[in-house]
Amino acid sequence: MAGQITLVVGDWVTLAQDALNVRHDVFVAEQGVPLELERDDMDPVSIHAVAYGADGAPAGTGRLLPDGHIGRMAVHRHARGTGVGRQLLEALMTRGIADGHKRFVLSAQTHAQGFYARSGFTAHGEITMDAGIPHIEMVRDI
Ligand SMILES: CC(C)(COP(=O)(O)OP(=O)(O)OC[C@H]1O[C@@H](n2cnc3c(N)ncnc32)[C@H](O)[C@@H]1OP(=O)(O)O)[C@@H](O)C(=O)NCCC(=O)NCCS
Repeated sequence: MAGQITLVVGDWVTLAQDALNVRHDVFVAEQGVPLELERDDMDPVSIHAVAYGADGAPAGTGRLLPDGHIGRMAVHRHARGTGVGRQLLEALMTRGIADGHKRFVLSAQTHAQGFYARSGFTAHGEITMDAGIPHIEMVRDI
C-alpha cells in the first residue's frame, strides 16, 4: 500500500477537511479522546501533511507547529504498518528543515515510542498523562 500513497503537504485551509476526517476516526472514535481535546487553535498556524490511498481517501495525517513540535500523527487502522506514518513524518521534517528548523519535538503516546525512534527521535523525561493516555517527550536534532 505504501507505494500507492500520495502525500500532500500544505496549509490548514487546503487540508483541514481530510486531516480532521482521519483525526476523528483515529483519536475520537478509536482512542476515545474527547472532541474538545482533539481540537485546538494551533491548526491554522501549522503545516499539515495528509496521505491519500489509491482510492483517493485520506489514510493518514500529521502536523508541524511553528515552534518545531510535530503532532496529531494518525494513520487509519487499515493502513498501519505499511510505511504511511513514516512517510508523513519524513514529509513534515523535510518541510521543517527547509523552513530552518534544527530540532523537532513531539509528545509521543508511549505505545508509539518505537515508531518515532525508527525516525531518529530520542525519549526524554518522565511519562505524563494527556487525555488519559500516557505520553513521553521525544526529540530529534538535525
Ligand atoms: C503510530 C502510527 C502513526 C504509526 O503509523 P504507521 O503507518 O503504522 O507506521 P509505519 O508503517 O510507517 O512504521 C514505520 C516503522 O515504525 C514501526 N512501528 C510502527 N508502529 C509502531 C509501534 N506502535 N511501535 C513500535 N514500532 C512501530 C514499523 O514497524 C516501522 O518499522 P521499520 O522501520 O522496521 O519498518 C499509527 O500506528 C497510528 O496512527 N496509531 C494510532 C494513533 C496514534 O497513536 N498516534 C500517535 C500519537 S503520538
